[in-house]
Amino acid sequence: MDEKQPIKTRKMKDTKSDIDDVLDIERKAFKQYAWRKCESFRCRIKANHAFVACKGGEVVGYLLLKSECSGWLLEKMAVKYESQGIGTALVNWAKCHVGSERTTLIRLNVRGQNTRARRLYQKTGFVETGRLGTYTNGDTKIEMTWKSDTMPTKACDA
Ligand SMILES: CC(C)(COP(=O)(O)OP(=O)(O)OC[C@H]1O[C@@H](n2cnc3c(N)ncnc32)[C@H](O)[C@@H]1OP(=O)(O)O)[C@@H](O)C(=O)NCCC(=O)NCCS
Repeated sequence: MDEKQPIKTRKMKDTKSDIDDVLDIERKAFKQYAWRKCESFRCRIKANHAFVACKGGEVVGYLLLKSECSGWLLEKMAVKYESQGIGTALVNWAKCHVGSERTTLIRLNVRGQNTRARRLYQKTGFVETGRLGTYTNGDTKIEMTWKSDTMPTKACDA
């Protein structure tokens, strides 16, 4: 994969190709905790809340949002190649997506030990808003939130 290719973000499609690519990234990123059924992704695709990042036509990351009464939950995200700005591009895309619909917030839960993800969320405007106990392995469950009225969204690229 050519690292210099621009990152393009788009809605995930209900096609075998998109679903297989995303399931592959999901399995590698989350291992025993990975979602294994394509139906889990299909309902997010139907609701238009699933996004993929592509580089040179290759699917290199995905992000899933879930609608909640108080705003949105960033349910899952993972990338195929780390530290190339793919995660940042996906989060910025998600902020554009929800920002264009209403003034809103996005919340998420992240493991305390997941410093890479926490750093990415901090850099993209999320702040820690709670400690929600622990995961089964004892790791802290941290809630982070981004509000569209406190942090302007970047322009959408597509
Ligand atoms: C978390 C994840 C989505 C980040 O994606 P990414 O494409 O690597 O993120 P980016 O390249 O856009 O930026 C990551 C930022 O994290 C930080 N970072 C990078 N490597 C790091 C490390 N080893 N430790 C701590 N922070 C790190 C940096 O601030 C980096 O930005 P910068 O390099 O521009 O300064 C990716 O690591 C991943 O798929 N992880 C496995 C699945 C996962 O944990 N998902 C999140 C669940 S809440």
